[in-house]
Amino acid sequence: MDRKVFLISGGSSGIGLSIADRLVQDGHQVISLSRSPEKVERALKEMPHLKDEVDFVNGDISDPGDADRLFREIEAKYGKLDGLVNNAGVLTKGTIETVSVEDWQFTLDVNLTGPYILTRAMLPLLRNAGSASVVNISSVAGLKPGTSVAYSVSKAGLDMLTRFLAGDLGPYNIRVNSVNPGLVRTHIHLDNKVFADRESYEAMLEKARPRYPIGRIGEPEDISALVTFLLSDEASWITGSIIAADGGVMVENDLIPPKK
Ligand SMILES: NC(=O)c1ccc[n+]([C@@H]2O[C@H](COP(=O)([O-])OP(=O)(O)OC[C@H]3O[C@@H](n4cnc5c(N)ncnc54)[C@H](OP(=O)(O)O)[C@@H]3O)[C@@H](O)[C@H]2O)c1
Repeated sequence: MDRKVFLISGGSSGIGLSIADRLVQDGHQVISLSRSPEKVERALKEMPHLKDEVDFVNGDISDPGDADRLFREIEAKYGKLDGLVNNAGVLTKGTIETVSVEDWQFTLDVNLTGPYILTRAMLPLLRNAGSASVVNISSVAGLKPGTSVAYSVSKAGLDMLTRFLAGDLGPYNIRVNSVNPGLVRTHIHLDNKVFADRESYEAMLEKARPRYPIGRIGEPEDISALVTFLLSDEASWITGSIIAADGGVMVENDLIPPKK
């Protein structure tokens, strides 16, 4: 099989790590961009087999200088790029009355401006590929107001970026799609201090579970299966799509009694 080169932002944790693992198992080269070496160490404890398989690069998705440096590194080391997953994301708390301007700005910088910066920086390589795929990891919180106004707005913006770029980049045979997960068990809530401790996090998962018609909270593999499909040639006619992978939470409503 053709060995492809894929860049994932935030491949050191949760959903991104699962995407990296799946792509490596399919025989592809994976590069991951993230900030903290501690999360790379944690990832390699979880998945030691990825040590020599994933090229973990240090950088911030919201920093144009980091994106340009990464572009030059990928061009020099691999000479091509077949796909990009804009997966890195942060979660902040708050309504219009409680969210600080700093948290609002930070959330939009990472979740929305970051994918714009990284996609733009990688364009020359993606155009050269002849056929390439970009997947933006959005959220159901971008389809329907969630619990954080900054997070929901950042993901709704990301979905529009997906649709806009699908039109702009289609002529280069670059496909662009959004995957919108429901609640998935990862490190995002505790790493971003949205919950004070594991106990309150687990209580939130248990409280949310009955709203999922499929009857369980998601696992990273539920999302990475769809993402790797969208990166593959089998998805060559799918672009500009906003696809929920959410155990059915988007069809849940107050008229349907919650499942026990
Ligand atoms: N888990 C869920 O319930 C859920 C639901 C819907 C959507 N999502 C979305 O799925 C994506 C992955 O989330 P996850 O749950 O897997 O989160 P996670 O476990 O916290 O992983 C996030 C990853 O993003 C990286 N990252 C964060 N800020 C970054 C930055 N500025 N530059 C580069 N890398 C950065 C993190 O590494 P560093 O911090 O070291 O940089 C980490 O590798 C996010 O976009 C999230 O919004 C998650």
